[in-house]
Amino acid sequence: MAILYLTRKEHFNAAHQLWDNRLSESENFELFGKCANPHFHGHNFDLYVCVKGEPNPHTGLVMDLKKLKVIIQQEVIEHLDHQNLNLDVSWLKGKMPSIENISVEIWNRIAPHLPEGVLLHKITLWETQNNFVEYLGE
Ligand code: NI
Repeated sequence: MAILYLTRKEHFNAAHQLWDNRLSESENFELFGKCANPHFHGHNFDLYVCVKGEPNPHTGLVMDLKKLKVIIQQEVIEHLDHQNLNLDVSWLKGKMPSIENISVEIWNRIAPHLPEGVLLHKITLWETQNNFVEYLGE
C-alpha cells in the first residue's frame, strides 16, 4: 500500500519574549534581535501538522481532517491563541518560547491523540514570513 502525507494548517497569534538571564542585555539583543524586546511582542504563527499513513481502502482517507483539526484546536490552538507564551501556557512554563521549543511541545501534545495506524510525521511552525522550523520527532 502507498504511504501518504496529509497536512492540516492552523494559525494562532501570540506574544513572547526571548531572553536568557545568563546573558547581558546586549548579548540578548545580539542573539534574539527584536524578540528580546522587554515588553513582549506578537507574532502571527502558522502551524502545519503533517501525519502519515495508508489511505483507508473504503474511504480513501489517511484520516478525517476534521478530526485532525479538532485535535490541533483542543491540544494547541486553544492554549496558545492570543496568549503570552512566556506567562500564560502551563506546558511552556520554564521553557524558552522559541519556535523550536514550541514545536517539540506541540508534537508531544498531538502525537498521543492520533487514530490507530496514523503517525505524526512533521510539525512545521512559521514565526515570520521568513523564519520557520520543522520537527520530525527526533
Ligand atoms: Ni519574537
